[in-house]
Amino acid sequence: MTQDELKKAVGWAALDYVTPGTVVGVGTGSTAAHFIDALGSIKHQIEGAVSSSDASTARLKSLGIPVFDSNEVDVLDVYVDGADEINGHMQMIKGGGAALTREKIIAAMARKFVCIVDASKQVDVLGHFPLPVEVIPMARAYVARELVKLGGLPEYRQGVVTDNGNIILDVRSLTILDPVALENTINGIPGVVTVGLFANRGADVALIGTPEGVRTVK
Ligand code: A5P
Repeated sequence: MTQDELKKAVGWAALDYVTPGTVVGVGTGSTAAHFIDALGSIKHQIEGAVSSSDASTARLKSLGIPVFDSNEVDVLDVYVDGADEINGHMQMIKGGGAALTREKIIAAMARKFVCIVDASKQVDVLGHFPLPVEVIPMARAYVARELVKLGGLPEYRQGVVTDNGNIILDVRSLTILDPVALENTINGIPGVVTVGLFANRGADVALIGTPEGVRTVK
């Protein structure tokens, strides 16, 4: 099976976690895109979606799924999204698609976070994938210097402006042994909007796509 076929399998498997009649939290990326397509097949059974990016909003709308402003919704039953890395404690690196801030907000609103990944995203220790950090543009150089003090090698993601009008620094060379502490530390640097570490609020369920089928981890 190709990597995309594994992503498709978990995207469709996530439908099992959608409760009819509810508003569904929807992530961003190539795996989440498969989930959106799957959601399209049951669109008459759900109220609609809250979306984590302009790209996902466009895909949802193209399938005729109503998209709600997150401020109109009190709580979400479930949030379904991919990840760039996930460890055995269900902590993740996210933000390869630059949507980390909205993803983290919607994940926080949801009762259940279902992470959908192909098996290549599983790691023992987070940090091989460069850690994305969304930063207010005027703070770029300052935040980069602070990230160097933490042992990282930040790199400005050229040509990328987030849906919130900010920039992304991708931090290489981190071995993240305490993801909760690092998430808190980086979020505390003035000028940082969000770090793409999802450790304080990790996933509740992971659906892992393998050549043998979809494996569920809780
Ligand atoms: C988007 O900002 C990310 O958090 C994605 O969830 C992550 O990059 C996974 O993307 P793919 O599903 O495309 O691998």
